[in-house]
Amino acid sequence: MKLPPHVTICEVGTRDGFQIEPDWIPTALKIEVVDRLSATGMPRIEVTSFVSPKAVPALRDAEAVMAGITRRPGTRYSALVPNDKGAVRAVDAGVDDIHTVVSASESHNLANVNMTIAESLVKLQATAQVAHRAGKPVYSGISCTFGCPFEGDVPVAQLESVVRRLVDMGARGIGLADTTGMANPAQVARVLEHLVPRFPGVEWTLHTHDTRAMAIPNILAAMEMGVANFDASIGGLGGCPFAPGASGNVCTEDLVHCLDAMGVRTGIDLDQLIETSRRVQEIVGRVLPGQIVKAGKWTRRYPLPDGVRERIPARA
Ligand code: COA
Ligand code: ZN
Repeated sequence: MKLPPHVTICEVGTRDGFQIEPDWIPTALKIEVVDRLSATGMPRIEVTSFVSPKAVPALRDAEAVMAGITRRPGTRYSALVPNDKGAVRAVDAGVDDIHTVVSASESHNLANVNMTIAESLVKLQATAQVAHRAGKPVYSGISCTFGCPFEGDVPVAQLESVVRRLVDMGARGIGLADTTGMANPAQVARVLEHLVPRFPGVEWTLHTHDTRAMAIPNILAAMEMGVANFDASIGGLGGCPFAPGASGNVCTEDLVHCLDAMGVRTGIDLDQLIETSRRVQEIVGRVLPGQIVKAGKWTRRYPLPDGVRERIPARA
């Protein structure tokens, strides 16, 4: 397999995950989770979003969360914004990077941010200006890259035109988001094969949801295509309130475990990550989808049943 020696993970659980938690998560607990995540060596954390508090009430404490976290050197802290108003708030709150959102599908964009794609791109132009004036890099995410829960297929030409506009606005990176877990590995490879050569110098990120158990296979396909940046969510939290059927992101500790097992470095302490996932389960009050918290790492060994050891034939 063609694997990169090192992968950069962006933890999105406190944004993509906490945004849809039905019960209010107190600000202090959000801060605790961000700080635990940074302590694992997490290189990037999408802490929260600066969106309309009417649209996403669960993250209405974005400023307080940003103000309360302990900044670890080596971790870059970002937030998601849909417009320039969000960018101004994010810059004032001290984010390192601005993450923007627009959908590749008109229906999902209207459902998510109440704008057509063209209207969103006007707002994102203003967003880019705010970010550039403040010296903050912009990473532009594109929802429903590999399919839309309302429209189905998203033509690659349509996706490419959205990427083109975002790159022209000066985006440093483009995040291809499989918002409702519709992508399959062959499709991920095909889309990347189309896009990557057309946009030299762009940093590509794959944002996956494990709705149909294809997140890690899709990540493997993207790594084969040279992508080395992935979003993931502690415990497998996550989902989009405006995309029916959306469920959790690829689980961070499951992904780090898979990469560790293959010898791909992430700089993240897996044991601490697993502990953090346990704590997040306590906070949200339910068992999360992650598998490694339940199964233990692949290096786990069990005691032999009685009477077996004596019967193992000696090796020649
Ligand atoms: N932060 C805080 N408030 C914001 C805001 C932002 N980034 N952008 C707009 N608002 C406020 C406006 O000031 C206005 O406030 P008012 O009612 O007190 O006057 C209100 O929200 C409506 O603004 P408007 O520009 O008319 O937006 P809208 O109602 O059409 O909503 C969005 C558009 C983009 C603001 C809203 O749909 C949104 O925040 N969506 C986020 C979706 C999301 O996070 N999805 C999940 C992640 S992919
Ligand atoms: Zn998502």
